[in-house]
Amino acid sequence: MFLILSLMLLLTVSLTKTTKKGLEAKQNLIEELRKCADIYRYVFVFSVENMRNNKLKDIRTAWKHSRFFFGKNKVMMIALGKGPTDEYKDNLHKVSRFLRGEVGVLFTNKTKDEVQEYFSSFKEVDYARAGNVATMSVTLDEGPLEQFPHSMEPQLRQLGLPTALKKGVVTLIKDFEVCKEGDTLTPEQARILKLFGTEMAEFKISIKCMWNSESGDFEKLTDADSNETKKEETDEDGEGNE
Ligand SMILES: *[C@@H]1O[C@H](CO)[C@@H](O)[C@H](O)[C@H]1NC(C)=O
Ligand SMILES: *[C@@H]1O[C@H](CO)[C@@H](O)[C@H](O)[C@H]1NC(C)=O
Repeated sequence: MFLILSLMLLLTVSLTKTTKKGLEAKQNLIEELRKCADIYRYVFVFSVENMRNNKLKDIRTAWKHSRFFFGKNKVMMIALGKGPTDEYKDNLHKVSRFLRGEVGVLFTNKTKDEVQEYFSSFKEVDYARAGNVATMSVTLDEGPLEQFPHSMEPQLRQLGLPTALKKGVVTLIKDFEVCKEGDTLTPEQARILKLFGTEMAEFKISIKCMWNSESGDFEKLTDADSNETKKEETDEDGEGNE
C-alpha cells in the first residue's frame, strides 16, 4: 500500500514538473512579447513563403537591433490579446488576427519604409521541395546528359527518367516532361529538378500589418502583388504552428 502510494506520488510529481516546464516556457514567451511591445516603437506581422530556416537566420543576423518571433501563434495571440477586452495594449488584438499559418512577428524601431524596403527586396529562389507547386513546366530534351557520371544512370532511371548508357554516356532516350506548371511536386520530381539545377521555390517575406506602440494605431499592409488579402479577412480560427 505504502509502495503504491509513493509510486503514485512520484508519478504525480514528475508529471507536474513536465507540465510546469511547458507552462513556464509559455509564460516566459508571453512576458517577453509584452516587454517587446513596451520597448519597441513598431510591431509588424510578416508571412513567409517557402520557409527556409537558414534564410530566416540571415535576416535575424541583419536585424540584430530588432526582435523576431516565429511560430507559436497561439501563445503570441495570448500575449497580444485576442479581443478588445483582453488585449495587452490598444488595438493589439488586431495584430493577433494576422497570426495564422507561417507568420512571424517583428518588433523594431525601424520605420515602415525601412521594413518594407528590406523585405520586399529579400527574395531568394531555391530548389522546390516535394509538396511545392511547380511554377513552370519543365521538359528535358532527349540526348546525352554529360553532366552525370555513368555510375548515376541507374539512379536517374529509378527516378523515372528514360535513360540508358550509350557508349558509356548517360543519355535521355526520349523527351521527358518533368512537371507541368501547377503540379504539386512529388519527391521524385523535386529531386529531378534539383539534379538539373532548376530552382522554382521563392523564399519570400510579406509584411501584413503594423502597429504603432506610441499612438496605438493599427494599419493593414498588403503588397501589390499579393492576392491573399481576402483569405485573411475571414474570421475562422487558425491553428497556427507550434
Ligand atoms: C526604441 O525607441 C524607443 C523610443 O521610442 C526607445 O525608448 C528604445 O530604447 C528604442 N529601442 C531600441 C532597441 O533602440
Ligand atoms: C488576383 O486575383 C484575381 C482573381 O481572383 C486575378 O484576376 C488577378 O490576376 C490576381 N492578381 C495577381 C497579381 O495575382
